[in-house]
Amino acid sequence: MTRRPTFVCAACGAASAKWSGRCDACGAWNTISEEAGLTDGPGAKSLGPSRGRKLALGDLATTEPPLPRALSGIGELDRVLGGGLVPASATLVGGDPGIGKSTLLLQAAAAFGRQAPAIYVSGEEATGQIRMRAARLGLADAPVRVAAETNLRDILTTLEAERPGLAIIDSIQTMWADHVDSAPGSVAQVRAVVHELVTFAKRRGIAVVLVGHVTKEGQIAGPRVVEHMVDTVLYFEGERGHHFRILRAVKNRFGPADEIGVFEMTGAGLAEVSNPSALFLSERESAAPGSAVFAGIEGTRPVLVEIQALVAPSPLGTARRAVVGWDGGRLSMVLAVLESRCGIGFGPSDVYLNVAGGLRVSEPAADLAVAAALVSARQDIALPRDAVIFGEVSLSGALRPAPQAEARLREAAKLGFASALVPARTALPASPGIAIDPVADLNAFMDKCFGPIDR
Ligand code: TYD
Ligand code: MG
Repeated sequence: MTRRPTFVCAACGAASAKWSGRCDACGAWNTISEEAGLTDGPGAKSLGPSRGRKLALGDLATTEPPLPRALSGIGELDRVLGGGLVPASATLVGGDPGIGKSTLLLQAAAAFGRQAPAIYVSGEEATGQIRMRAARLGLADAPVRVAAETNLRDILTTLEAERPGLAIIDSIQTMWADHVDSAPGSVAQVRAVVHELVTFAKRRGIAVVLVGHVTKEGQIAGPRVVEHMVDTVLYFEGERGHHFRILRAVKNRFGPADEIGVFEMTGAGLAEVSNPSALFLSERESAAPGSAVFAGIEGTRPVLVEIQALVAPSPLGTARRAVVGWDGGRLSMVLAVLESRCGIGFGPSDVYLNVAGGLRVSEPAADLAVAAALVSARQDIALPRDAVIFGEVSLSGALRPAPQAEARLREAAKLGFASALVPARTALPASPGIAIDPVADLNAFMDKCFGPIDR
């Protein structure tokens, strides 16, 4: 009979065979403790086939009525949730501290509270502070009941007695389950708290929304360790200096993932932005070099965004590559393809890339727009102001068509764009409603946009 390692670090969850004062995996001191061991091997007791209860098995064809969903009336939120909030579900809303999670959820609680009782429990703020925020949001009379508490046992007892339709727990890092012997915010505590709340939600048919802070340092257990335990994971993101906020579904058992909702942080809380393209492009200057408009798809919606590039001589010997809103690795790839396949080098210059408005773009279809913005900045030649660009760049310098061309083109036409530069094999609708400029490969694209380039 072998005994599995039974010493577990409370900070990072790493298991080891022996105790030590300092965790080898994360370097934390005094976090390792013994856990009830698992045994396996020949001498271990097996569950055996005859001890349990036989499960009733169903088939896949049984028709269930569609899940009843509660709509908040905040369109951007309902869409990200996949068409409203599902009862007996657990939703995690993650994001940087100060991004607006509490504001969003107080507004959501007020909206849902009109249909079913809503309870908002804060472990971060006193009830007075929550009331002040509600007053600022114009929600002072909203049917939401609030409490400031961190003891999970008391919270569950209260929810059990009150049986609300929606319970918001702000935040999982401040909550504390007294049967787990570690500090609030540690992996063990956060896991236990989420487990208890998710189980409670399922058993009592209550929709539970959990707030989780993401910390860059990873010191405190972030929402990442509990993502698999909940039904829906939403991230609330945005750049601090910008007033746009994006709520993104990264996991959703009841709807599409990757859906986004766009909000604007105003003096009176978060306001919905129902036409994000118009907003993301509203700050665009007249045809400036280094700017390209990408017709993207976020979830089920087309969104136009401006990609901005700047190529500047490097004051230091080493060239900088800085990216906001896009993947740094992907930028290096596009730069390398431009250099080796088109002979357009950026050599010792600093290269900066920015997605305007604080959106994070993750589609490969943005490659071509990024390449266009980069070369436009390098050549100091502006791209046509009324053109949108989309397509994926492959390492060979060939262009790959992007999916959902029709939706992208329709959005571009709606916003007054006159033409689209797309890879030649893009599947186009019969009447795109906009002039199409197909390009065979990256070289042809650069020739078309910038004429002869000094290489
Ligand atoms: P908050 O919801 O407290 O963030 P989180 O819960 O994610 O930590 O929001 C914090 C910021 O939002 C704060 O810096 C102030 C700003 N804010 C507004 O701009 N307008 C408002 O109406 C409210 C309530 C907050
Ligand atoms: Mg908060």
